[in-house]
Amino acid sequence: GRPILRDAYGRIARDLRVSLTDRCNLRCTYCMPAEGLDWLPTEVTLTDAEVSRLIRIAVEILGIDEVRFTGGEPLLRRGLETIIEQSAALTTRHGRAPELSITTNGLGLDKRAASLKAAGLTRANVSLDTLDPRRYAKLARRDRFHDVIKGLKGARAAGLTPIKVNTVLMRGVNEDDAAPLLHFCLVNGYHLRFIEQMPLGPPHTWDRTQMVDAAEILRRLSQRFELSQEPAPQGSAPAAVWQVAAGADHPAGTVGVIASVSQPFCGACDRTRLTADGQMRTCLFSRTETDLRTPMREGATDLELAEIWAGAMAGKKAGHDIDDPRFIQPGRTMSAIGG
Ligand code: GTP
Ligand code: 5AD
Ligand code: SF4
Repeated sequence: GRPILRDAYGRIARDLRVSLTDRCNLRCTYCMPAEGLDWLPTEVTLTDAEVSRLIRIAVEILGIDEVRFTGGEPLLRRGLETIIEQSAALTTRHGRAPELSITTNGLGLDKRAASLKAAGLTRANVSLDTLDPRRYAKLARRDRFHDVIKGLKGARAAGLTPIKVNTVLMRGVNEDDAAPLLHFCLVNGYHLRFIEQMPLGPPHTWDRTQMVDAAEILRRLSQRFELSQEPAPQGSAPAAVWQVAAGADHPAGTVGVIASVSQPFCGACDRTRLTADGQMRTCLFSRTETDLRTPMREGATDLELAEIWAGAMAGKKAGHDIDDPRFIQPGRTMSAIGG
């Protein structure tokens, strides 16, 4: 029969995350060293046609329903619109186009949002860790706060929906941004999600004992907002979503918390990943990758590539084991794996 992406624990991948470049125009302290990384050389970076082909195999043969474009910063990829257009033309086994989304830092999104939407992108997740422009410049090591705000507005104007804002809280850096960010998102119609920081950045940027966890985030928010009781089970979605009651200066809305560390959702994981250099990963935290680029360039057929991909799923680990004392960070950091 047709290969599917089932792992040894019975989990089936429906969600593909594609990193389109390892480069970024920001240098967020928790993600990259100030000097950047050793970028992938052009020869090993998949061409637009190669990326589109692997996405087609994932959707039409392997049963992927949702494709998310990440980086580094995916807007730095010139062929983004072309890749999206070709992905939007595919048909999932449910007989419809795959859902297409992007995770971006928002820089330049105002200029690209309309063309991305026209190409078939449905929604966007934008990273924003603070509402203070000076703090932003320090955290991202680039003075681009106002460009992100422009990007968010542009995405909304273009009709990308929903627009989610991703925030990583760090102790002593931006914990006090939690409430202002929620207020900002409620007022502007963005769905805010707080993300527990994971050990995926440069060495020594993560400390379990210093991590701002979900419990603390909710305590902080409860001081200013009325949150609903414990939310319903989240399925394979990483965020637990809370209802926020309307207040004097803001409408009702929702807020999500992605507790990847303190409450891992690995048991319901439905993801597989592709790096910009054509390596398949079963997990953010995989210690090994499966090369799809080389067999593809050596002439493998669609079905052969699908079989390599499906076979590699067998090696997917049960979970990330961050709390295991023997835990070792993956060889690549978040930006090179695909955020
Ligand atoms: P949607 O819920 O579909 O909008 O997307 P998402 O939340 O999966 O995607 P996004 O790229 O916005 O990721 C938000 C955060 O979720 C990331 O910063 C990570 O902290 C976390 N995350 C994303 N992918 C994974 C994953 O594969 N494993 C784990 N543990 N966390 C992930
Ligand atoms: N832990 C958690 N989230 C991270 N991100 C980047 N690095 C980390 C990390 N170490 C976030 C970005 C972006 C998303 C793709 O991942 O802020 O919102
Ligand atoms: Fe899935 Fe790995 Fe993320 Fe867990 S850490 S949710 S197994 S990709």
